[in-house]
Amino acid sequence: MENHSIIKIENLVKSFPVGKGEFIALDNLSLGFQKGEFAGLVGPSGSGKTTLLNIIGSLDTPSQGKVMVLDKSVSELTNRQSAQLRNKHIGFIFQTFNLLPVYNVFENVEFALLLQKMSATERRKAVMDALEWVGLTEKVKSRPSMLSGGECQRVAIARSMVKRPEIVLADEPTANLDSRNSHNILQTMKNLNRELKTTFIFATHDEKVMQYLDRIISLEDGKVLKDEIVTDPKN
Ligand SMILES: Nc1ncnc2c1ncn2[C@@H]1O[C@H](COP(=O)(O)OP(=O)(O)O)[C@@H](O)[C@H]1O
Ligand SMILES: [Mg+2]
Repeated sequence: MENHSIIKIENLVKSFPVGKGEFIALDNLSLGFQKGEFAGLVGPSGSGKTTLLNIIGSLDTPSQGKVMVLDKSVSELTNRQSAQLRNKHIGFIFQTFNLLPVYNVFENVEFALLLQKMSATERRKAVMDALEWVGLTEKVKSRPSMLSGGECQRVAIARSMVKRPEIVLADEPTANLDSRNSHNILQTMKNLNRELKTTFIFATHDEKVMQYLDRIISLEDGKVLKDEIVTDPKN
């Protein structure tokens, strides 16, 4: 793997106001990620996994500390700059798929490109490529309600990948899937990670996801408890 740092977190603190006090969700956490990693944040519910992914994805801001994503300090970005970072460089995959129900598969994936300067022809090519990556070219006209959960998550993967982001953040992506579909989408993401060198960071407590990770970062009470490289992950 190239030794190329794309995320650098130093002494990150995230606190939320509760009543008259505050709750420390991330407690002086330091962590880095290299290009091409297939890494996961694991830990019990409430340990800070989603909070950390949201800060890396520039959906939320640090209370203290320094977070560099693709050489940009996220706390110094204007709203417009952080929107641009998300739109161009970061893909998101959620537990609940978050597809637009009135749009078909093609349109749901195309949606991720609408804020970019691309011709309709270029867009169509990019969308069809992404649907091919996830094996859904035959379903372009289907609405989400006509698809299985596994297929919906495949659409969400295509949507996250269509702009060829450097980083994909996946928050409990298998939580609503059965075992077979979970393995299928994990294999798809791993293939994309290998072929396109996209960095994947998961938040999960699913054992099935952990089997594929090449790095497991255990969080507890907003701190890194363990950070382990897996020598022989499932491919
Ligand atoms: N907006 C918020 N306001 C107050 N507390 C929050 C907020 N977001 C998260 N928390 C708290 O921070 C802790 C970590 O939450 P989260 O990052 O969602 O954990 P995980 O994803 O590991 O389950 C939890 O105790 C949660 O209740
Ligand atoms: Mg969570």
